[in-house]
Amino acid sequence: MKRRSFLRHSATTALGVPLMGNALSQGLANPDFNALQSLSGEEYWKGIRSLFPLPEDEVYFNTGTLGVMPSEVLQKVIDSLTRNATEAAQTNYQGEGPLLLSGYEAFVDLRTKIGTLINADYKSIALIQNATAGMNYVSNGLDLQPGDEIINTDQEHGGGRAGWEIAARRYGLVYKQAKLPIPANDPQEIIDNIFSLATPKTKVIAIPHMVSVYGLVLPVKEICAEAKKRGIFTILDGAQCVGQLKVDVTDIGCDAYFSSLHKWMLAPAGNGILYINPESIDKIWTVMASYQWENTDDHGFRLTQRGTGNISMIIGLEAAIDFHNRIGSAKVIARVKELGDYLRNGLRQIPKVSIVSSVHPEMCAGITTYQVAGTSSTDLQNELWRRKKLHPRAAGEAGLRHSTHIYNLKSEIDLALEIIADVASRA
Ligand SMILES: Cc1ncc(COP(=O)(O)O)c(C=O)c1O
Repeated sequence: MKRRSFLRHSATTALGVPLMGNALSQGLANPDFNALQSLSGEEYWKGIRSLFPLPEDEVYFNTGTLGVMPSEVLQKVIDSLTRNATEAAQTNYQGEGPLLLSGYEAFVDLRTKIGTLINADYKSIALIQNATAGMNYVSNGLDLQPGDEIINTDQEHGGGRAGWEIAARRYGLVYKQAKLPIPANDPQEIIDNIFSLATPKTKVIAIPHMVSVYGLVLPVKEICAEAKKRGIFTILDGAQCVGQLKVDVTDIGCDAYFSSLHKWMLAPAGNGILYINPESIDKIWTVMASYQWENTDDHGFRLTQRGTGNISMIIGLEAAIDFHNRIGSAKVIARVKELGDYLRNGLRQIPKVSIVSSVHPEMCAGITTYQVAGTSSTDLQNELWRRKKLHPRAAGEAGLRHSTHIYNLKSEIDLALEIIADVASRA
């Protein structure tokens, strides 16, 4: 009795009014996907939207920064945190009581589910905190010599760039940036710009699979194939990709790939993955070392074991993957693209609006960045929020970065387009 009333109390006070007024309080923490199957088109996606704790009158167009957890994921995280706080004394390390922390377990089942998502064996996958960690594990773990050359692009997120800049300064490497056009609509131009910088001394090509600011999808398969011919190690920054694009690391043929799963996979913040191709795994030293540092059978575990972490975030990650799989990866990815195209088509009709993201069908998905002549992206962001509580994110001079995910509806994009057209007509 006592525990039950404690749980109820903690849920209302800790979560606050907006959440309780939404999906969790309506009993949707355990969604009936079968019931949703009878729906189609926008009605189906409205049903999906109701499985998120977002207030009905607020529209979140900023998944590029952080995704929103489905209610059932949030609930599992809360339950786990509560259980660990209330039942800690029951853990006897013989199988009873809650697992109190992450950081020492192999999490084979979870890594297998991730392997299925990205087409890799679980032993090639390490659970890490985020994309930034992924790049740093590799930039610190790879043996490089003075004079070795690294190619990045001029559109890296700091998490995809800084690890290489440090390595260059520390070890006397040559750091180069390939130019990516704005907008970029020709895949060959990108390939040419990257390889125009390559020399026999180039050891690493470290590039985004998708550019953070513009949502540009690079022709990574072709780039990795050419790099392989030249003996260059390839590492792809897929922070924005898993959950947004089909990611098949085996087909891409990269040496390493990392992603943040708290963006488009809708996992709680602090979840990422690092994949290393089995053919290249011996090249990567363990840089965050604990007991498993020499495990040469399960390399993902050796790279994963980094000391105490928050088990509730891992439980949330698994719940987010289960949620994604219940809708179906292909369906999620197709919806993201459909909404991105819907937005881009609408923007194209509005005078004074220029899309600075790619509109090449294979080089864009759920992130679109645009500018309205005569208006700053911050003013436009503020106006969208002030008028209808719509929240895309201003990306400084680049423009307004507008992410579309499965909790967004075409009607919400229509609202945004109406406001943008009005702002543009007055600018
Ligand atoms: C392309 C890219 N790389 C790296 C990062 C860094 O991600 P995190 O903060 O999760 O490490 C981001 C975040 O937006 C990103 O878009």
